[in-house]
Amino acid sequence: MQQNPIQFDLQMFHKSFEFNNKEIIGKGFDSIVYKVKNRDDKNEYALKLTSFKDLQHKFNFQQEIRLLYHLNHDHIVKFYGNSMDGSCILIEYMPFGHLVKLIDLSLDIRIIKSIVNQIMSAVQYLHSRNIVHGDIKPENVLISKDFVIKICDFGFAIIANQPNAKLRGGSEGYTAPELLINQNYDPKKCDMFSLGVLFFVLFMGYRPFLSTHPQKQDKFWNYIKNKEWDKFWKIFEPKKQDVGFKAYIQKLLCADPNERYTIEEALQDDWFKSNLYTVKDLALQLKMHLPKQ
Ligand SMILES: Nc1ncnc2c1ncn2[C@@H]1O[C@H](COP(=O)(O)OP(=O)(O)OP(=O)(O)O)[C@@H](O)[C@H]1O
Ligand SMILES: [Mg+2]
Repeated sequence: MQQNPIQFDLQMFHKSFEFNNKEIIGKGFDSIVYKVKNRDDKNEYALKLTSFKDLQHKFNFQQEIRLLYHLNHDHIVKFYGNSMDGSCILIEYMPFGHLVKLIDLSLDIRIIKSIVNQIMSAVQYLHSRNIVHGDIKPENVLISKDFVIKICDFGFAIIANQPNAKLRGGSEGYTAPELLINQNYDPKKCDMFSLGVLFFVLFMGYRPFLSTHPQKQDKFWNYIKNKEWDKFWKIFEPKKQDVGFKAYIQKLLCADPNERYTIEEALQDDWFKSNLYTVKDLALQLKMHLPKQ
């Protein structure tokens, strides 16, 4: 298929693509994702389909199309086109699905760090263009056929320097605390908080807390909020704990966004950047651990 994004007529879609409504590869809050096959080149693609609930939902979905159209990065899912009515997005098919399946594999810190590094390189690309993803979590990060890690789902993304650009809260447990109380916040720092939760979940195998919402009074989150890190880490013993990992997580999950790493700082951290797998070597590692598709 051609490399420039296409606009297609949904009625005519079946002429170019084989579509079977039983081939559902994912379900989001407001969308269904199908696997489709191009009749010419025989390649598989993912088709994300929605039906608009209201104007806000329509705006969000079309914002995802607008953003994907302009994004071009090795660790962001590739965009191939959209339907003329704006209700469908055609993207690269990612046969190994999302990162949730890695959580139970107890992968070592070097592999996890290298996965997070690929995600962070995409976030660096986005933040340098003033784009904030707004919903970073394992379900929104996919594994390609070549075992490359890519971010998807820009349904919550915003352009940070536009007037009235406000994040919509993302997913509970991944949302930065400053977003939940009515105060000015830097949306890029909210992505950094979510990256901290994602890193924690992938390495430790469970969430650091369930909610950062002040009304929930989550015990684990309160330890972090009160900077009682010793009490927080004690809960997770005797689970393996890497000293570098703990210090790094504290720079991402801290309640005060001013103390939190920016994406540049996170990538430049000495512990983080040491001993990373290249994209090629990480692919070999993941190939060994993931079941064949
Ligand atoms: N290109 C793809 N290849 C394979 N699976 C995909 C692809 N895109 C999405 N999926 C699957 O579909 C799920 C839903 O997709 P996506 O996150 O884009 O939808 P959403 O409706 O915006 O989700 P949310 O519930 O987070 O708002 C993903 O978590 C993933 O499992
Ligand atoms: Mg999603």
